[in-house]
Amino acid sequence: MKPRDDDIILATQPKSGTTWLKALAFAITNRGRYGFGDHPLLTHHPHQLVLSIEFHGPGGDHTDLNALASPRLLSTHIPMSLLPPEMSPSSSRRVVYLCRDPKDTFVSRWHFDNKIFHGSTMELDKAYDLFCRGLSPYGPFWEHYLEYWKASLATPDKVLFLKYEEIKEDSVRVVQKLAAFLRVPFSQEEESSGVPEEVARLCSFETLTSLQVNQVSVVNDHGDHRFPANSAFFRKGQVGDWANHMSREMGENMDQITKDRLKGSGLAF
Ligand code: A3P
Repeated sequence: MKPRDDDIILATQPKSGTTWLKALAFAITNRGRYGFGDHPLLTHHPHQLVLSIEFHGPGGDHTDLNALASPRLLSTHIPMSLLPPEMSPSSSRRVVYLCRDPKDTFVSRWHFDNKIFHGSTMELDKAYDLFCRGLSPYGPFWEHYLEYWKASLATPDKVLFLKYEEIKEDSVRVVQKLAAFLRVPFSQEEESSGVPEEVARLCSFETLTSLQVNQVSVVNDHGDHRFPANSAFFRKGQVGDWANHMSREMGENMDQITKDRLKGSGLAF
């Protein structure tokens, strides 16, 4: 893939809410093209509409990223320090990073992995131990947060740092913030006719999980590549579900690791 100056990059750790962010960014940036009644998000999984730079999506057509019209919305789980220099944030190439309380991200990942890797279920205790020791996909977990966090502090006009919990708390406010950051702010008219609210509603867990396309539970098997079933990206969509799977001590221990790793950065959960 050839990076372009006006690419919009959505960066996350897996299970931080990538699917949600893709839906929101797609709905915001394409709102002039589609009505809410026949929106592509009603018939397509968010992963079909915003493609990843490092793996094939749910479709079998191997969409050529270089053939997409500008500005492209692209997603990645790659740590910032491993992105090629031509993809680093610039005044025209913006990066949106979404993260989530590590405890919920961990529990979400554990469920997801056990769902997609049939026959090789890992006990939660074992997965927890590996996670706390720093073993996770896409490199050291807390450093992943920190790299994008520091970049957002240094260049807030190029990197927007969001938390899953803040979208849950006030999704309309985040929709407005995201639109302004992507330089497609809502007009007065859009605001007064409730467009930010419509976007938030369209992308909500309740709406997306009610759609047939997102309920498909068959793995997207295209022979040369497999992609998890559409439904695998939606589970509970809640803040604090970790407490249903981890003991209080496990939670406190993970919180302590998070505090130690993020110490002095100003980032906290
Ligand atoms: P849970 O497993 O805690 O339910 P990712 O998209 O990065 O793979 O993250 C998946 C997590 O985000 C899952 O969390 C999933 O349920 C949640 N999720 C997906 N779409 C969402 C939405 N529209 N609103 C809130 N949470 C959503």
